[in-house]
Amino acid sequence: MKEIKSVGVVGAGQMGAGIAQVIATAGYKTVLYDTNPQALEKGHTGIDARLAKAVEKGTIDASQRAATMGRLSKGSSLKDFATCDLVIEAVIEQFEAKAALFQEIDKVLAPSALLVSNTSSISITRLAAVTSRPQHVMGVHFMNPVPVMKLVELIKGLQTGEDTYQMVQAFCASIQKTTVLAIDAPGFVVNRILCPMLNEAIFLVQEGVKPEDIDTAMKLGTNQPMGPLTLADFVGLDTLLYILQVLHRELGEDKYRPCPLLIKYVEAGWYGKKSGRGFYSY
Ligand SMILES: NC(=O)c1ccc[n+]([C@@H]2O[C@H](COP(=O)([O-])OP(=O)(O)OC[C@H]3O[C@@H](n4cnc5c(N)ncnc54)[C@H](O)[C@@H]3O)[C@@H](O)[C@H]2O)c1
Repeated sequence: MKEIKSVGVVGAGQMGAGIAQVIATAGYKTVLYDTNPQALEKGHTGIDARLAKAVEKGTIDASQRAATMGRLSKGSSLKDFATCDLVIEAVIEQFEAKAALFQEIDKVLAPSALLVSNTSSISITRLAAVTSRPQHVMGVHFMNPVPVMKLVELIKGLQTGEDTYQMVQAFCASIQKTTVLAIDAPGFVVNRILCPMLNEAIFLVQEGVKPEDIDTAMKLGTNQPMGPLTLADFVGLDTLLYILQVLHRELGEDKYRPCPLLIKYVEAGWYGKKSGRGFYSY
């Protein structure tokens, strides 16, 4: 089995930047790239700021911060992934965007390199099929915020090779994550259960219940560390809407219908924490 030494991460948003941070911290040479230069800059400086905080707290020392930042570089194009053994995609949750990117990255990578997606809901089998290396494609679904959350869901497409799965599982263990094997069905395990709950909370807001009351009810009534509307704001309301649309369309059941109020918020550009406004202001 080939060893993974250098990793590319495409998409420097909240997930991509978190993924790159964890991988560079674990000792891998990491290239982070985003089509939007401001997003790349923000992702990169965000990683350095989080590491600086960790130094302040005493969780790491200054030399570990410097070494991690030394292993992390900013890509200027997809060509910078040419020598990567593994590329993790974390761009917008839309099949067309991911498929176009997969085709471009596929041309740049060595034939043995692995190409995986952090998608929350899109079919891995369908993404793998647009590449020339379907046996080397799989789903690797990190949780948000990546440096804090232990879980990674692994998803095999119909074409995923056993070697690919073994390598990715070993890689996830080496970056201190616990993996579960999900199935290639919309939403996998976590979002299949979580997103309908967040959607239901938004229906309650639409029906007149205050977000604060819903969050308090769920925190104190079900022992969740964070209420569903705070969590929806953290996930990103645009991302939540895309996931619900995939669940609704592909599982074909009305119970996944996105709440009209969620659609309105996304139309208004109220994406939650990342845009400064969602069910709360940031
Ligand atoms: N937000 C969550 O809680 C969460 C959790 C797990 C998985 N995910 C998944 O991770 C992925 C990214 O989500 P996010 O929350 O980080 O989104 P985000 O909006 O914070 O970041 C997406 C980034 O991708 C960049 N991008 C878009 N198209 C690109 C392209 N063609 N090439 C390079 N960069 C491109 C954008 O500029 C942006 O910086 C989605 O598939 C999402 O479903 C999200």
